[in-house]
Amino acid sequence: MSKLSRIRRRLPRLTGAQAVVMSAAGILCAGAAATALTGQTGIATALLALLGGIILAGLLLLFRRLARVQKAGLAAQRDLRTTVEEMQRRLVAAVERERLTAGDRHLELAEAIARVKQVTDRKAASAQVLGLPREFEATVQLFQGFTPRAPMPSSGDFALNPTDLLELLHLIRVRQPRLVLELGSGTSSVWISYALEKSGGRLVSLDHDGGYAARTRAALAAHGLSGIAEVRDAPLTPCGIDGRDYPWYDPEALADLHDIDFVLIDGPPAATGADARYPAMHMIEKRLADRATIVFDDAGRADEQAAMAAWTERFTGLTREGELLGRHAVLAFARPPAMAAARA
Ligand SMILES: C[S@@+](CC[C@H](N)C(=O)[O-])C[C@H]1O[C@@H](n2cnc3c(N)ncnc32)[C@H](O)[C@@H]1O
Repeated sequence: MSKLSRIRRRLPRLTGAQAVVMSAAGILCAGAAATALTGQTGIATALLALLGGIILAGLLLLFRRLARVQKAGLAAQRDLRTTVEEMQRRLVAAVERERLTAGDRHLELAEAIARVKQVTDRKAASAQVLGLPREFEATVQLFQGFTPRAPMPSSGDFALNPTDLLELLHLIRVRQPRLVLELGSGTSSVWISYALEKSGGRLVSLDHDGGYAARTRAALAAHGLSGIAEVRDAPLTPCGIDGRDYPWYDPEALADLHDIDFVLIDGPPAATGADARYPAMHMIEKRLADRATIVFDDAGRADEQAAMAAWTERFTGLTREGELLGRHAVLAFARPPAMAAARA
């Protein structure tokens, strides 16, 4: 590439008219210089005036072009603002549509939940009705097994169902425990005492509520079972387990008990706090005989399920026995021989 064409490339590109004006200005400069040098000052001055006029016209053209560019910039800004505003409107509309759809879904979901609840309530009611023959049969068998010496307290409300009672008494008859611990006294205390009267053995029952404890004591006395069973007042006190305090029966009420070989866990009631029965195994484990049976009522509830899972994990030798008909679960405790030997 020649030197001349390299220089031309570096120069700004001029239109034809600009090139003509620039050339004319150059000629006028050269003319003014030449006439000034030859003493023709009049012509030189005229040429310079012409040059000034051309520069002025150029500046005017430049300003007009700048004004056009500025106008075009403002128009572009306006367009951009309009586009952004339109996009904002669309975004807000889309969010609003989504919100309404979510609201509709929430309504649909609430209606579906209500429908499911209706069905499950109906199912629960019919399960209760379907369970009636079973409870009736269990009641008949209970009274065939024992002849109470006074009117039996009811097995409704907070008490164990006849089905659960029947299975509980069957376990007592078969396993013949020497010392039964009951957590939560009531109608079950009377039935258990009748069973123990036959098989030999005694019952200690804890109640956190003095009123219910007194009522159970009175029932036991009415049935002539006070020699078999003792109801102890055990108000709920904070029991610390793994850094958490649970309201549970005052451990003092258990202090003299050893070699407990049968336990019915039916208290404290769930209303006394979350995981109300979880402390039981922690508080009684060292007082259990090397082999013991643990009957856990209301075992289908979430808290009780969690407690059983945690216990069987934590306490070596504690396992679940098969599912039974009623609401309770049965756990078997067999202290490992090494631990039993260490205790002896
Ligand atoms: C589940 S109940 C124990 C029931 C007992 N094991 C039975 O089968 O008859 C647990 C505790 O709830 C309390 N309790 C009993 N009947 C109650 C009732 N109708 N309302 C409120 N609490 C009651 C008593 O303090 C009892 O120790």
